[in-house]
Amino acid sequence: MCGIVAVIGSRDAAPLLLKGLKQLEYRGYDSAGLATVTTRDIPSTGSLICKRANGKLANLVEKVHSEGAPGQLGIGHTRWATHGKPEERNAHPHRDSSGSLAVVQNGIIENHSALRKALQLEGVKFASDTDTEVIPHLISRELNLLKSQGRIVNATLLLEAVRKVVSQLQGAYALAVVWQETPEALVVARKQAPLLIGLGEGEFLCASDTPALAGFTRTILPMEDGEVALLTPLGIELYDSQGHRQQRSPSFLHGLEDVVSKRNFRHFMLKEIYEQPETARLWVDRHLPLGLPEAVPVALPFENSFYEGIERIQILACGTSRHAAMVGAYLLEQFAGIPTTVFYASEFRYAPPPLAPNTLTIGVTQSGETADTLAALAMEKERREVYKHPDFLSRELGITNRAESSIARQVSNILDIGAGLEVGVAATKTFLAQLLSFYSLTLSFASRRKSRSLEEITSLINELRLLPKQLLVLVKQHDALAVTLAQRFSDTQNVIFLGRGINYPIALEGALKLKEISYIHAEGYPAGEMKHGPIALLERRVPVISIATPGVVFEKVLSNAQEAKARDAQLIGVAPEGLATEIFDALMPIPEVSEWISPLFSVIPMQLLSYHIAANRGLDIDQPRNLAKSVTVE
Ligand code: AGP
Repeated sequence: MCGIVAVIGSRDAAPLLLKGLKQLEYRGYDSAGLATVTTRDIPSTGSLICKRANGKLANLVEKVHSEGAPGQLGIGHTRWATHGKPEERNAHPHRDSSGSLAVVQNGIIENHSALRKALQLEGVKFASDTDTEVIPHLISRELNLLKSQGRIVNATLLLEAVRKVVSQLQGAYALAVVWQETPEALVVARKQAPLLIGLGEGEFLCASDTPALAGFTRTILPMEDGEVALLTPLGIELYDSQGHRQQRSPSFLHGLEDVVSKRNFRHFMLKEIYEQPETARLWVDRHLPLGLPEAVPVALPFENSFYEGIERIQILACGTSRHAAMVGAYLLEQFAGIPTTVFYASEFRYAPPPLAPNTLTIGVTQSGETADTLAALAMEKERREVYKHPDFLSRELGITNRAESSIARQVSNILDIGAGLEVGVAATKTFLAQLLSFYSLTLSFASRRKSRSLEEITSLINELRLLPKQLLVLVKQHDALAVTLAQRFSDTQNVIFLGRGINYPIALEGALKLKEISYIHAEGYPAGEMKHGPIALLERRVPVISIATPGVVFEKVLSNAQEAKARDAQLIGVAPEGLATEIFDALMPIPEVSEWISPLFSVIPMQLLSYHIAANRGLDIDQPRNLAKSVTVE
């Protein structure tokens, strides 16, 4: 949610900032802006240049190219609007009244109203509706105070002023500050919002996320919560929230190149759908290698103690990740026999269930940055620590695609889903990879607890090993099929998705995908619930997509589908060919596999149908309106 880039070094900052912002545009694309500071050896000595443009980054690029933005120090921002409409005056960077100091921020300053009122009483005039604008005014006020005390204007002064101001801010934020009086200084800070420093040769690039560093450096220093850093061409000074100087070794990033290219695909989303067979292959290689002992047939990075004594599991997640968690809960309960509950992370934060003993809390987030999920996990940990009972100790696991993200620093056990970077805002391959992680966990628990026979476990493993090849065929088949089906439904206004049991979450995911990228109203229901209300919506113009896979609820789902057909709804089946499928007006066929693994197949037609409907409607598939890839605000 909002992307920040900041750079200091010996090269022109603007091209580096624009390149970094391009890689972060998935975090928000309501407006974009940058500010550069010219260094003293340029004739227009020490001046701050600010360029902002409403809408996509391309508008800013055009502006910067035609008007120029010299200087080797700069900050940039791509915005997902929270406070104030998407208009140029609300675009970052925001400046103080003198226009000499600029700030970009990602997050929400919760006490901005009180701070704004206090500043207004002192005569400060605001130029935007944003929460962020209080920050440059506060820093400027602090700098004036320090200067009036006779302090020398230098980088340390700016650092001191920023540190004083962040101590007044409530909420979650990551920010970067430049001041034209110190063209050799960049100050950055973070609290509960991601920010990392990339170390180049004689230059530094800070960013909200690693893709911004592609082609710049692989050496990074992720900032910890509450830290403030001063970056100069000479080096980094890093301080914790108490003002203590921190010394940490940087870490090394892998696999940044594949981020940048769509290859021959029209959209990142389609490319990422096509990458799923490879995602599955990598998962099989990592977690189901041949030759593991029968007692532990899955390779996972956890000690035995991780599994011991767990009586129940609770999973916290949002959006698509929550749908993956729901499939996971079905597997953990029905296959491994562990009572499991899934919560919306945003609800859990404020209404958690009473504490239960010996509970594993799992946070699922592909980005590793979702504010609600991180806060819910932190709250759960804290209340268990306060309780101080050995049976109630916090036991946690984070399932994420970003092993370098905030969740990895917050939670003691991490399962990296290893899907590679996903650029399309609508999650596809990360959903599949999250599902696969739950299969690893379920198999691991089931074999250790002996809740399933060896034959059942081996049979599930053998089926999963075939997945990569089957997905390869399925993706191609449905890419072609969905083109035709999409033509039929491009003008549709409402769609109902039905599923039951392990495929109910896939109905929810199908509906979410369609809503997100095609802006068509869609709802997912457990098929048996349709007759309790939603059936009133059905008529000729409302397609019903019914997931009917052989298993415990197959016949039931078919009966529910018949009920829809009897109300004239157009009935589309996601089902194996030839198994009573004549009831469907159209079929999106999937292989006849065991019910346990059917979600890994049934989701593919959902993704491709949504994709092609959105493509037919000419929509911006990779950056759908109002959305952002990582939701770092509450
Ligand atoms: C997925 O298509 C959505 N963009 C959204 O629902 C997403 O799954 C949700 O915001 C959670 O994100 P996370 O996995 O990064 O936590």
